[in-house]
Amino acid sequence: MNNKSEKAIIYLRNTIESDWLFDISNMRCLELFSRTGDWHTKTLFKDCKDVTLLEIDGKYEDKLRSNFPDAEIRITDSIDWSMSMSRGDKNHQSYDIVSIDNPLGRYGNYCENFEVIKHVNNLLADESVLLINIVPQPYSNNWPWQRIRSSFFEDYGPADNYVNFEKIIKTYRKILNDQGLDIKDYEYICREYAEDLDYFYYLCLKLKRKL
Ligand SMILES: C[S@@+](CC[C@H](N)C(=O)[O-])C[C@H]1O[C@@H](n2cnc3c(N)ncnc32)[C@H](O)[C@@H]1O
Repeated sequence: MNNKSEKAIIYLRNTIESDWLFDISNMRCLELFSRTGDWHTKTLFKDCKDVTLLEIDGKYEDKLRSNFPDAEIRITDSIDWSMSMSRGDKNHQSYDIVSIDNPLGRYGNYCENFEVIKHVNNLLADESVLLINIVPQPYSNNWPWQRIRSSFFEDYGPADNYVNFEKIIKTYRKILNDQGLDIKDYEYICREYAEDLDYFYYLCLKLKRKL
């Protein structure tokens, strides 16, 4: 395993700050899958003042709180929570940067970001950054996972089940467009290799709500 996460996050922050000219430290930040934050979230949000963190498993709470003493932390199902948000609500809060660092493959009733992405508009500010995990080629022959992926990307090609980047961005562009969000720019960044396979990427999206 070649874990490039640390380098990838530096590149990622550079894209957000130097290319897109956002000031991350002053953004309202949300991580939907926090664990303890040690793998990715802590580096991504290291100097941010307004951070909200969700995690379903209470066993990570103490470490998460010690890593982020000033953050708002909720132990809850972040997908249910995202679906319950409504932009019309009086107390609705939107976020300038949303990170969806979900577990790989299937977990509980969910798969990758395929459910939550359809409700992400509930969470985002008018101009925002959305960070998602992309697995262009699964590292295991897990057939239920592969079937769900084929259906999500409408990709029923060869059995290697590689989904190319063109198809990936086309799929997310449509899902986000249907929610009134335009992709203004994007960047794929390799996050990890396994057995020489570049199986794990960030897709970082610069979004703007259509008027
Ligand atoms: C890849 S880890 C997140 C790593 C973390 N971002 C970091 O930087 O260390 C995925 C986490 O998602 C949590 N999780 C799984 N299903 C969830 C759900 N429905 N809502 C919130 N968290 C969930 C898991 O318990 C696990 O801690």
